Amino acid sequence: MKDRIKNEAFFARIASAEDAATLINHNDIVATSGFTGAGYPKAVPEALAQRITAAHTAGKEFSIRLLTGASTGPQLDGALAQANGIAFRAPYNGDSHLRARINDGSTLYLDTHLGQVAQKARQGQYGKPNIAIIEAIGVTPDGHLILSSSVGNSPTWAQLSDKIIVEINTWQNPELVGIHDIWPHVRMSPDTQFIPLAHPGDRIGKGTLPIDIDRLAAIVITDEPDRNAPFAEPDQNARTIAAHVLDFLQHEVKQGRLPSSLLPLQSGVGNIANAVLEELNNSQFENLTGFSEVIQDGMLSMLESGRMTVASASSFSLSPEAAQRINENASFFREKIILRQQEISNSPELIRRLGIIAMNGMIEADIYGNVNSTCVMGSRIQNGIGGSGDFARNAFLSIFVSPSTAKGGKISAFVPMVPHTDHILQDVQIIVSEQGLADLRGLAPVERAREIIKNCAHPDYRPLLEDYFEQARKHSFGQHIPHHLPSALAWHQRYIETGSMAG
Ligand code: COA
Repeated sequence: MKDRIKNEAFFARIASAEDAATLINHNDIVATSGFTGAGYPKAVPEALAQRITAAHTAGKEFSIRLLTGASTGPQLDGALAQANGIAFRAPYNGDSHLRARINDGSTLYLDTHLGQVAQKARQGQYGKPNIAIIEAIGVTPDGHLILSSSVGNSPTWAQLSDKIIVEINTWQNPELVGIHDIWPHVRMSPDTQFIPLAHPGDRIGKGTLPIDIDRLAAIVITDEPDRNAPFAEPDQNARTIAAHVLDFLQHEVKQGRLPSSLLPLQSGVGNIANAVLEELNNSQFENLTGFSEVIQDGMLSMLESGRMTVASASSFSLSPEAAQRINENASFFREKIILRQQEISNSPELIRRLGIIAMNGMIEADIYGNVNSTCVMGSRIQNGIGGSGDFARNAFLSIFVSPSTAKGGKISAFVPMVPHTDHILQDVQIIVSEQGLADLRGLAPVERAREIIKNCAHPDYRPLLEDYFEQARKHSFGQHIPHHLPSALAWHQRYIETGSMAG
């Protein structure tokens, strides 16, 4: 272990996960590493879940307020949710057990733009964290952490928390050292500084994270892979959507509106986004770059083929097979990948300056192009807004993708009015379904409606949307964004009552 923990003072604090978990008390604010299922602590949260279960069995209250980078994995969100030990959670979740807790009301959830979390934490909006739990792959002789497969909010939690527990995960390849770039100059307003990053490949910070030894409470050793979910083989819809996106980008290059190397790409979570990246890898574009919050299999393939020269993100979001590839070729990938803290990977200032092409999934859009990314039927959380808002609002091109229907055709992804809005129509420039692409740039709301209905809606729902639009224009209070309020949300109500939007 001395090859991983090269500082004596750190080495002296090695403890078991069970002992470390006893440092956490009921009502504590616990802030952890972890972003999109990568680099989250595993052993201490599992031991904590056991403590919580034991406390509940003994009739005692025990729950924590949990802050992370983004989604984590079964050993953290999953185990604590199953123990009913999370009273409050921010800023993003992808775990099904925790989703169920949030939706049944037993966990409160503050879904937050991922690029804003660190700033809000420094302002004290979440309270002062009692304890940080941070996964790392090693400790340098001068007591700095080499983080693992994500950076997320770890620098912020290390700075703000009363105590720090570190998990050293020996599963992660120690050769990842050098992949991280942690910018130490983040400050509160009015002392904020210009972020000196002009290209996705720029390294502007330090490769390691200094830790205050006085607050280091325990070091725990683990040896477990991240939650790496396999990507589904792209289905026909995903392939068709990817082809539409590619045609569009080629057209923009021909028109002289984009360079042949495009602009830095951001790609959201999910299978369709990954399919677009795979398609780009088979294209004629060259010297592509990535400036995203996650690196998925598709980006990895592009780096391997040389189609992409460099990718900047805050974490990996890989299939087990791709994670293994990184682990086996760490020295190749650490030259081409840069992992940053999420307030830099998702910085609106940088997204605007670099001119990002942002591609994100959605739950549904309305005929005017307002997008719901988070809340099924307006009230049931799916995951969260993630970084989609950071990118969509500030991107050079903001693209949203979705199949035109969900749940075997019982739901239309294009509806008269969204019952919850994450992205207002001003932030949504292009929408793509397997039916086609609606280029909404420069169009007024009623023009957008015609494009979305004609190009994106499924043929089974298109006439119903046309009817709605006509009714809306007849009965609306105003003609800027026409709506017929009594029927605007009727499709959703019909689904709740009958199991189908079509009736
Ligand atoms: N109405 C109801 N449910 C819908 C729906 C709709 N219009 N569209 C999708 N769903 C359901 C699917 O049926 C599926 O449900 P299941 O888990 O019960 O099978 C679930 O939502 C996920 O849909 P899926 O088709 O697997 O989509 P995806 O993997 O492409 O993810 C989002 C789509 C919107 C959930 C995902 O993109 C997301 O969480 N976005 C917000 C965060 C984000 O954009 N982050 C990236 C920023 S860098």
